[in-house]
Amino acid sequence: MEIILITILQSAIFVASEQPAYVPTDNITLNCGAPTDLLANDGRSWAADKNSKFGPFESSHIKSQAYEADTQDGSETVPYMTARVSRSEFKYTFPITPGQKFVCLYFHPASHKEYDRSKAFFSVKAGSFTLLKNFSASFVADSKGRNWFPREFCLNVEDNVVLDLVFTPSRSASYDTYAFINGIEIVSMSTNLYYTPPDSLDVPFVGHSYPFAVGNDTALEMAYRLNVGGQSISPNNDTGLFRLWSDDFFYMNKDSYVTVNTSVPIDYTTIPRYTAPEMVYQSARTMGPSLAYKEKHNLSWLLPVGSGFRYMVRLHFCEPQYPVNSSGDRKFKIFINS
Ligand SMILES: *[C@@H]1O[C@H](CO)[C@@H](O)[C@H](O)[C@H]1NC(C)=O
Ligand SMILES: *[C@@H]1O[C@H](CO)[C@@H](O)[C@H](O)[C@H]1NC(C)=O
Ligand SMILES: *[C@@H]1O[C@H](CO)[C@@H](O)[C@H](O)[C@H]1NC(C)=O
Ligand SMILES: *[C@@H]1O[C@H](CO)[C@@H](O)[C@H](O)[C@H]1NC(C)=O
Ligand SMILES: *[C@@H]1O[C@H](CO)[C@@H](O)[C@H](O)[C@H]1NC(C)=O
Ligand SMILES: *[C@@H]1O[C@H](CO)[C@@H](O)[C@H](O)[C@H]1NC(C)=O
Ligand SMILES: *[C@@H]1O[C@H](CO)[C@@H](O)[C@H](O)[C@H]1NC(C)=O
Repeated sequence: MEIILITILQSAIFVASEQPAYVPTDNITLNCGAPTDLLANDGRSWAADKNSKFGPFESSHIKSQAYEADTQDGSETVPYMTARVSRSEFKYTFPITPGQKFVCLYFHPASHKEYDRSKAFFSVKAGSFTLLKNFSASFVADSKGRNWFPREFCLNVEDNVVLDLVFTPSRSASYDTYAFINGIEIVSMSTNLYYTPPDSLDVPFVGHSYPFAVGNDTALEMAYRLNVGGQSISPNNDTGLFRLWSDDFFYMNKDSYVTVNTSVPIDYTTIPRYTAPEMVYQSARTMGPSLAYKEKHNLSWLLPVGSGFRYMVRLHFCEPQYPVNSSGDRKFKIFINS
């Protein structure tokens, strides 16, 4: 596994700042299979794909179908309640502005009449990028122990101003595979939030003597976005980028102290305010005050990932904590896979 390390260092100066959150140019939420527009729990509106200008468009005579999920499993959550399902290829076409985007796909694998949940195997392409290949949402759901989940990607759209999302069932001898999707979200992101700017120093490439650039020809998939020491932060409470920040508790060893001080104002003069919400910087994990303990332990997170990919690791730091008064008061090492 190869790892790229980005660190954002921020010193906390106790000044409140009122910069506006990021406002995305493109902000599309499409509830696939839904007959009417609906509000999600967080108050965000999701457009129905029935009679939508975005699609679905089918090239074959086999038409896609809209299904409502059985909500026995507690899935009464927009956009997981309905699905667009098809045994042949279908696509959605989104007219958007050029630039770097989040594309988030929402999956709730469920059986619908002649569609068995274990028979859904399909690929998803966004423009020239293959986001998912021979993907089985039920396999992912069963291995995670979750009934539904999102998959989030970053990609750059060149100036052709249309993004096609194409869903293609995998071929099988029994012709019973199919593709489905519950919800599609496309949100513009602040330029170069996750990509390397042309004029910047490249990202350190862990284990290599040369740096790495995350270029516009790369699509990224989000593996983990954790709010360390704090609670999960819902997309609505993000900085305008609609990112979900999860609780890190399940991924770490328990030998840590949590510090949360929500009355510390976070000053965003050295990084843009949209980088991460204040809550991310107001909570932290530390090893506590005991020197004897610190010498014998590491503060560790264990994050399972697929092999064969490069991973961008971004660490956010803020040091608002008494008794750290000046630079150098707290020093530590960071190991990534040793
Ligand atoms: C994004 O779109 C949703 C759904 O139409 C809407 O509720 C929300 O206010 C929009 N947010 C921004 C920041 O444009
Ligand atoms: C990547 O594309 C964005 C616009 O989408 C542009 O601002 C940026 O300069 C490009 N980066 C490089 C390295 O060309
Ligand atoms: C898709 O994955 C399934 C399960 O691993 C496998 O049986 C099948 O052969 C794969 N199909 C293709 C087209 O790769
Ligand atoms: C998130 O925002 C909601 C209102 O939209 C608020 O009630 C809630 O307390 C916020 N949660 C956090 C963790 O900030
Ligand atoms: C939280 O931060 C504020 C502002 O710096 C400080 O006055 C207060 O003592 C801190 N509270 C704790 C529990 O550390
Ligand atoms: C902490 O982790 C690093 C890297 O895995 C290891 O070399 C070191 O021995 C560990 N330290 C302690 C005190 O466990
Ligand atoms: C920071 O300042 C406080 C108050 O003057 C002091 O008690 C503390 O020891 C200082 N911290 C360090 C690491 O020097």
